[in-house]
Amino acid sequence: MSGGSRPMSTEMEPILNPTTGCSPTSADAGTVAGTDAGAGSPDANPTIEVRLAPDFFDRSIRADVGRGLTSTPKELPPKWFYDDRGSELFDRITRLPEYYPTRREWEILRREAGHIADFGAEIFIELGSGTSEKTRTLLDAMVGSGLRTYVPFDVSEGMLSRQARSLVDEYPDLRVHAMVADFEHHMGTWPSGGRHLVAFLGGTIGNLDPGERKEFLAELVSHMAPGDGLLLGTDLIKDPGRLVAAYDDAEGVTASFNLNVLRVINRELHADFDPDRFAHRAHWNTAEHRIEMYLDSLVDQRVTVRDLGLEVEFAAGEAMLTEISTKFDRAELSEELSRAGLRLEHFWTDDAGDFALSLSVMT
Ligand code: SAH
Ligand code: TRP
Repeated sequence: MSGGSRPMSTEMEPILNPTTGCSPTSADAGTVAGTDAGAGSPDANPTIEVRLAPDFFDRSIRADVGRGLTSTPKELPPKWFYDDRGSELFDRITRLPEYYPTRREWEILRREAGHIADFGAEIFIELGSGTSEKTRTLLDAMVGSGLRTYVPFDVSEGMLSRQARSLVDEYPDLRVHAMVADFEHHMGTWPSGGRHLVAFLGGTIGNLDPGERKEFLAELVSHMAPGDGLLLGTDLIKDPGRLVAAYDDAEGVTASFNLNVLRVINRELHADFDPDRFAHRAHWNTAEHRIEMYLDSLVDQRVTVRDLGLEVEFAAGEAMLTEISTKFDRAELSEELSRAGLRLEHFWTDDAGDFALSLSVMT
């Protein structure tokens, strides 16, 4: 990406609109709160720690959109995909027949949960935890093997607090410490004391470009102790036809998801994008082994972003990059991990060899 740090997807509606029931538990970044009458007490379970400053979304959407629309070629930060409607569309994506990654990763998690529990983590942190749906497969196995604390970590506060509450009901012996935080800024601020396993599932690491991945891994490792582990989900290089279909489904759900970013910008920054004048496109970039998602302008047009005082011209056929999804192979992944100071211990794939879950350990 041309634009430096490029945080990813968030379900931002609840935070942008503090009048909803899901508003932040605290106005100050870094505040820890319980979620019931015992708020703030050390025994509260779950606890929800808000690391994001209250104006995080306002500030970053302005900066990101301003930078992306004035660069050449234009791009839009995917971070803004995940408002309430976007989250619902992403959930539908994970169930599409063409979108195999979620099912494949789940298959591996079910098969290897025992192995992963044997790692003996006491504190289990999950970056970009989303619904924590697949994670429950692991928690089922890990609670019997010494796990004390689960730390779901996501920028999407509404989703995170809903999940934290239901997880304490489902796992009464587990401490749940949810963190509303950005893994590009708040890594390492999680609880200490005991062996850590950090999970990053769903292939989300592939949404970072090589420079961002390097920075991400370096930062992560700087907060790990020798013997701590990283459980990483990565999609694998395969037939481009299947890859493109996974990001351009027949029903058009992925197209709606991609176009949703325009509605978010219209709403939040008073822009006048007409989603009907853009088309979703998924392209396989062989050299970079990644899917690139674009919104192509269908006509010559001018778009106004009122809150930024910005007028942007689009030529017919002009492409605007909104997301990348990098695919890996074992050799490359192992190399990238080892450069970061992580030793690959296990590389598990589903039976079809579509997706990989790896467990690596800090040396
Ligand atoms: N792990 C889930 C969800 C993947 S979607 C799965 O495998 O299906 C990506 C998730 O990462 C979303 O929940 C999004 O809110 C979160 N996310 C994206 N960028 C983030 C960032 N910079 N910091 C923390 N969470 C982030
Ligand atoms: N982490 C997911 C992936 O790379 C995100 C994703 C799936 C996505 N489908 C998408 C992002 C469509 C943008 C558009 O597979």
